[in-house]
Amino acid sequence: MTTATADHLRRLPKAELHCHVEGAARAATIAELAAGNGVGLPVADPADLFEFTDLNQFLEIYDVVCRSLVTADDFHRIAYEACEDGVAAGVRYREMFFSPGFVLKLGVPIETVWAGVSAGVRDANADLDITCRLILDVDKPSGPAHAEEMVSFAAGCDRELLLGVGADSVERGIDHAAFAPAFEAAARAGLHRTLHAGEDGPAENIRIAIDVLGCERIDHGFRLLDDPELTRRVADAGIPLTVCPTSNVVIAHVVPDVASHPFDTQRGQGVRVTVNSDDPGMMRFDLADEYVAVADAFGYDLEVMEDLSLAAVDASWAPDDEKSALRRRFLEEFDVLRAEAGLPARG
Ligand code: ADE
Ligand code: ZN
Repeated sequence: MTTATADHLRRLPKAELHCHVEGAARAATIAELAAGNGVGLPVADPADLFEFTDLNQFLEIYDVVCRSLVTADDFHRIAYEACEDGVAAGVRYREMFFSPGFVLKLGVPIETVWAGVSAGVRDANADLDITCRLILDVDKPSGPAHAEEMVSFAAGCDRELLLGVGADSVERGIDHAAFAPAFEAAARAGLHRTLHAGEDGPAENIRIAIDVLGCERIDHGFRLLDDPELTRRVADAGIPLTVCPTSNVVIAHVVPDVASHPFDTQRGQGVRVTVNSDDPGMMRFDLADEYVAVADAFGYDLEVMEDLSLAAVDASWAPDDEKSALRRRFLEEFDVLRAEAGLPARG
């Protein structure tokens, strides 16, 4: 068994499918943007806000952070910096959520959000060793009509960059099936579909995401194993879960530590699990940290960690030729890193 060092896992090439641009923002950037926009924060250093008791309280803090984001330049900056920080964690490919619902409520137009986020990602793709694309995450509490508006906006965006739609924010008290018209419209527009489900809500929300909303991936899916029949179906259909183990510990508080997370059991039951950071800025824990946490918690050797990295490439919505190229590149880089560490090639 070949265990990898933390440095090896940091440098391991990775793909990330569940990361929110607002939650990836640096605390120092949020402080600067808030000051520049004349927005008061309840603390001098936003990092002091980043202790969470549960998902709903986390989302209240998310709301505070989002108040600092006003201009297209603000969105450009957080998108670009999120890609820079991704690169430092070994992320070569990312599908990144942006959640306009939080700022739309404050009067920031969707056009401003999209102009900034899309330009930030385009610039990062040109300047840095990363390919990043975007997923518009609908704010569930803003309701089904808002979701339909967001889908219709997404349908008109540059589809090279905007791959699909999801829905995030609170899960408890939400009628997930009510989003069916929006998700049907997304499917008709050729947009990919995913949903935050079974994070701190029941496995039933995962079932609705698949059977009613036609989702191709599930974000979190923490509660999947509660429903053995659904688990079988998810495994057999190869529906990927974008799991965020540390987020489930420190944000949703649904598990005391990563070792107690159902990730390993889900994987053992044939579910296509991937490893993701969720909100690396607000958690001060990036995807490289997450790989180390998962390897430590479950005793995974280097080959398993490489497999998990490739699983995220396979579960991505990148065009097939790009996926094949990413796979080839990752395999080459795996062996370069192995050779540097004096380890045998992957074979
Ligand atoms: N938005 C950002 N992070 C989230 C999470 N972990 N759950 C739901 N909505 C979110
Ligand atoms: Zn999330």
